[in-house]
Amino acid sequence: MKFQAIKGVRDILPPDSALWNRVEQAAREVFSTYGYGEIRLPIFESAELFARSVGIETDIVNKEIYLAVEPSLATHEKDRNQLLMENTEDAPNKDAARARIDFHIELTKAGVRSGAISQQDNELILQEFANLQKNGQLLAGADWVAYVRRAKDLLSKLCYLPQLSLRPEATASVVRAYIEHGMHTRPGNVKLYYMGPMFRGERPQKGRYRQFYQIGVELLGASDHPAIDAEVIEMLLAFFERIGLKGTALSINSIGDKQCRPKYVETLRAALREVKDKLGADSQRRIETNPLRVLDSKAPDERPIIEKLPRIAEHLCDGCRNHYAELKRQLALRGVSYTENWRLVRGLDYYMRTTFEVTATGLGSQDAVCGGGRYDGLVEQLGGPAGTKGIGFAIGTDRVILSLEHQAGDAKPPAAIEVYLAWMGAAAYPAAVALAQKMRRQGTAVELPAVEMRFGKSLNLADRLGAKYAVILGDDELASKQFTVKRLADGDQKKLSESDLLSYLLPRTQ
Ligand code: HAM
Repeated sequence: MKFQAIKGVRDILPPDSALWNRVEQAAREVFSTYGYGEIRLPIFESAELFARSVGIETDIVNKEIYLAVEPSLATHEKDRNQLLMENTEDAPNKDAARARIDFHIELTKAGVRSGAISQQDNELILQEFANLQKNGQLLAGADWVAYVRRAKDLLSKLCYLPQLSLRPEATASVVRAYIEHGMHTRPGNVKLYYMGPMFRGERPQKGRYRQFYQIGVELLGASDHPAIDAEVIEMLLAFFERIGLKGTALSINSIGDKQCRPKYVETLRAALREVKDKLGADSQRRIETNPLRVLDSKAPDERPIIEKLPRIAEHLCDGCRNHYAELKRQLALRGVSYTENWRLVRGLDYYMRTTFEVTATGLGSQDAVCGGGRYDGLVEQLGGPAGTKGIGFAIGTDRVILSLEHQAGDAKPPAAIEVYLAWMGAAAYPAAVALAQKMRRQGTAVELPAVEMRFGKSLNLADRLGAKYAVILGDDELASKQFTVKRLADGDQKKLSESDLLSYLLPRTQ
C-alpha cells in the first residue's frame, strides 16, 4: 500500500521550509519589539470552547470542525457495545453482575470526563442505570430477564459524542489560557503571539488547506482605546514590511457592539427578506441564521444587490462611531493607509467594533493573508473577568509564503550547503572530519561525503547541491597543509592554510 498525505494537507520540504523559518523568525523579532511574548497552545481543546466563542452558526464550527475522540471514551464505547452483544438474559451469574457493576463505575467516570455537550443526557441515563442495577445481581427468572433488558436498553442510549476538537483557530485558546492562568492580574496589557497549525475541513484549493498555519497576535486588558487597535495594525504592517511582502492592502470596518448591532441586524434582515428571491441558496439561509454573513458573499450576481443594502456605518451608536473615527485618526497618525469596507464583517461570532483584513497579490480568490478584530465580550462570555477587552489578528502563513514565492518568480531559494568538502585517500579522511567540525563550529554549512568519491563526481554533486565552494583535501593538501578552495560559480581557485580558509569562508557566511 502506498501512503499519501490526506486531501488538503501537505508536507513542507526543504529548501521551501527555509522561507517559512525566515517568516516566523521575522514575526518573533517584530512582535517582541512591541512587547509581545510567545504563548504555546495545545492543538486540541474541548469542542465546546469553539462552539461558545467562534459560534455554533458559523461555517467554521458548523461545517468545518475536526472532532477527536478521547481514547478512553472510545474504549468505553467498545466495552459498552460488547456488553450489549453478550447474551446474559437467561444466564444469571455473579461474575457477569460484578462485571456490570465495574463497567457501570467506568461509565460513570466516562460520563464525568466526557465534558458538557452530551453530559446532561448521559447523566440521566447513568443515574437510572445505577438505580436499576442496585440489586440486579440478586434477581432471578423473569425479573432477571426484565432487568437485563432494561439495563441494556439504557446502556444503548449512552452517547459517546467526541468532546475534543482540533483547533480551527487560536483566539479561543488564548482567551481560555488567559482566564485559566489568571493573566488579568499581570501588569498592563497582556500581549501574546502564537504560531502553528490550525484545522478546518474546507474544500481544498490554492491557498486553502485543511491543515494550514497561522501566526497570530492577541492583546487583552482593561482598555479598548482605539490607539491599541491602531498599534496592533501598525505592527502587522511592520511585519509585512520586514518580510518584504509587496502589494498588501488593508481594509477596515466597524461592526458595532451589543447596543447598536442587533438593531442593525434586524434592519438588514428586513431588507434582505425583500430581495430574498434574487439571492442564492446560501445567502437565503443566512438571512435567518446570520444575515451579516450575506454581506461578504463572493457570488458576483449578488454584489449589485448587496451594494444597495443598509450599511452599518449609518447605524452605529455614538460610542462605536467615536471609536471608529478615533481609530482612523490613530491610523493616519501612524502613516497607515487603508480602505474602508463596510462589507467586512468576518466569519466568526466574537467580533465587535473594529474589524480588519489584509490582502496580498498572486493568490487568486484566496487572497486574504490576515484577518482580525476586536472581541471585547469574549473573555467574560467564557467565564473570565467582566470588562476585559481584546483585539488581535491571525496571518495565514501558507498564503504569505505563496505570495512571497509569487513575488520571487523563478529566483532560486538559497542552497542549504555552502561548502562541499571533497576528500580523497584514506589518510585525508580524519583531517576532513576535523576540518568540517571547525567550519561548522563557526557557522559554515558543510557537506562531508561519507565515502570517497572520484574528483569529477564530487564536483558534480557539489554543483547539484548548490554549494558555493568545493574544498579539496587529498594527499598533496595533507602534506603541504594548504587546502584548495574552488568557487563553483566561476571556477576561481586558490590554496589557503587552514586558518586563512576559515576566515575566507567566514564573512560570506554571516
Ligand atoms: P480567520 O479570518 O478565520 O481569523 O483566519 C485568519 C487567516 O488565516 C485568514 O485571513 C487566512 O489567511 C488564513 N486561513 C484561514 N483559513 C485558511 C485555510 N483553510 N487555508 C489557508 N489559510 C487559511 C481567525 O482565525 C481569527 N482567530 C483571527 C483573530 C485573531 N481575530 C482576533 N484575533
